[in-house]
Amino acid sequence: MLQFLKKLLQKFKPSPTPEFIAQQLRQPNGVFAKTIAARMNESNRNLYKLVLQHLELQPGDQVLEIGFGNGHFFKEILKKAERLKLYGIDFASAMVKAARKDNSDLIRQGLLDVQMGSSDQLPYAASLFDAVFCINVIYFWDKPFAHLQEIGRVMKPGARFYVGIRPKEIMEKLPFTTPVFKLRGVEEIQRIFGECGFELIQTQQETEPPVIMYGATYDMAGMCMIFEKKA
Ligand SMILES: C[S@@+](CC[C@H](N)C(=O)[O-])C[C@H]1O[C@@H](n2cnc3c(N)ncnc32)[C@H](O)[C@@H]1O
Repeated sequence: MLQFLKKLLQKFKPSPTPEFIAQQLRQPNGVFAKTIAARMNESNRNLYKLVLQHLELQPGDQVLEIGFGNGHFFKEILKKAERLKLYGIDFASAMVKAARKDNSDLIRQGLLDVQMGSSDQLPYAASLFDAVFCINVIYFWDKPFAHLQEIGRVMKPGARFYVGIRPKEIMEKLPFTTPVFKLRGVEEIQRIFGECGFELIQTQQETEPPVIMYGATYDMAGMCMIFEKKA
């Protein structure tokens, strides 16, 4: 009987609205957080791969990831060079909790530091980082200048900021894209970053296999924009 009721409830459970999914992608929380984090890890694996391919790190570098989701890729990042110190910051308490739990060994070894906070108010000393990166985060910046100024503050002069995103033309067509996402094209991103002291070094775009959502097929691509903090 219980099994039957469960199946019945499953059948008539309303599917989440695009607004709900967009809000969860911006800041995963509540009962849905674990599921959305697992989905992101799967669907953004190729985009992480693209950014990590370009991430140039030297032994002993201090690296910051902004908006790490549940921190699924921390272990891979630490393999990029010897003696790295990795910092992660995310403003979703559910993600910070999950990342700390899943990476407790790295934290204990002093290789990883995970904080809760926002990219427009970073709890780090000036000029600390040799490299900063974020993946699928800048869409949620209403006022990018505040974030970029703060990120620039914690970067060493000449350090690089790697930005992983889905191109605007791809995002615009996805079923969960609502005004929660502030979509900007490459030229606009370059202009905004330029005004905040970041010079565009390279843009790399890669096509990914199409994805099926709600029975429809959508084109997919990832992009890595590499900026250098002007001295
Ligand atoms: C769409 S998810 C992307 C997660 C992961 N980077 C990925 O691509 O799979 C956005 C993540 O960034 C975090 N986030 C969004 N805006 C942020 C901000 N201003 N400061 C810190 N974290 C932020 C969210 O809490 C969430 O974990």
